[in-house]
Amino acid sequence: MSDLKVGLAGLGTVGAAVFRMLERRAGELEARTGRTVKVTAVAARDRSRDRGLDLSSVAWFEDPVALARDGDIDVFVELMGGDGDPAKAAVAAALDRGIPVVTANKALLAKCGVELARRAEASGAGLHFEAAVAGGIPIVKTLREALAGNAIERVSGILNGTCNYILTRMADEKLSFHVCLTEAQRLGYAEADPTFDIDGFDTAHKLAILTSLAFGTQVDADAIYVEGIRQLTLADLEAADDLGYRVKLLGVAVKTDTGIEQRVHPTMVPKHWPIAQVSGVTNAVAVDGDAVTLTLVGPGAGGDATASAVVGDLFDVARGARGYAFGLPVDRLAKAERAAMQRHEGG
Ligand code: HSE
Repeated sequence: MSDLKVGLAGLGTVGAAVFRMLERRAGELEARTGRTVKVTAVAARDRSRDRGLDLSSVAWFEDPVALARDGDIDVFVELMGGDGDPAKAAVAAALDRGIPVVTANKALLAKCGVELARRAEASGAGLHFEAAVAGGIPIVKTLREALAGNAIERVSGILNGTCNYILTRMADEKLSFHVCLTEAQRLGYAEADPTFDIDGFDTAHKLAILTSLAFGTQVDADAIYVEGIRQLTLADLEAADDLGYRVKLLGVAVKTDTGIEQRVHPTMVPKHWPIAQVSGVTNAVAVDGDAVTLTLVGPGAGGDATASAVVGDLFDVARGARGYAFGLPVDRLAKAERAAMQRHEGG
């Protein structure tokens, strides 16, 4: 079988980790898929920066859209971030020419998921995004595939590693919010703009994706009530502790009689509950189905954890799994879109 030529857009913490992981795991991936999975082209801003990677045999593109549109690649990996161009234009260009896309970009999917899903459906290219939600936890595949036999009642959890890291260190070590945030940035957990983390929007983006997968609805981040952790002080966490609680930033999507309720906010969790003990950058996602209830716990951010999910998706592409958009065929997406438009028009 042929090589799988990977075009990688974005060589930050996650992009560099993906590059290294593919080198490290090349033999195993080839043994399992029969294909050599290799980065053959990259797009990143600063070519002269030393990333500790051997990029000598890799084609270099300044423009990620040019890589997606013209590159000699079999799969496009988008790790730039940002909910607009160039990430959106690049993903769209790859999908439109039938090239599968692997992305970790939850902001883009939360904002443009339906449009990108439609492009993927139209060209038959897969849109893979395990890395977009909860880092190394395989919650996308779990909801879309493993739990397909379940009617899901509720999905909830800790979906932002930066916030959980900050809340844990503040509570355990009595450190200030800002010291903990700076450390989360240094460790590569936080978004380029950390307000997305601390104001709850990153959690909301991920929750919107989970909601769509769990309940077969259109991705709709605007429908989510969002409150972050910026306003929390050490005194708040100490008061909660005195009362027997830990404070966690939770994302919750729950089926109600009137529809799917989605919310993100700091929550006081009794200390003896397992989710209260999830600490540091770790994420946890609890799924309540009619047949199976489970909680997945694992690293929610960071280079290797996120690269693990990206490489898992590349493994799927290499072995010929077509991938999905959001698990909905295009006619159902169109129906969901029309329903959402009617909702907006109806105010
Ligand atoms: N900034 C995100 C987090 C990265 O802290 O969870 C992973 O999506």
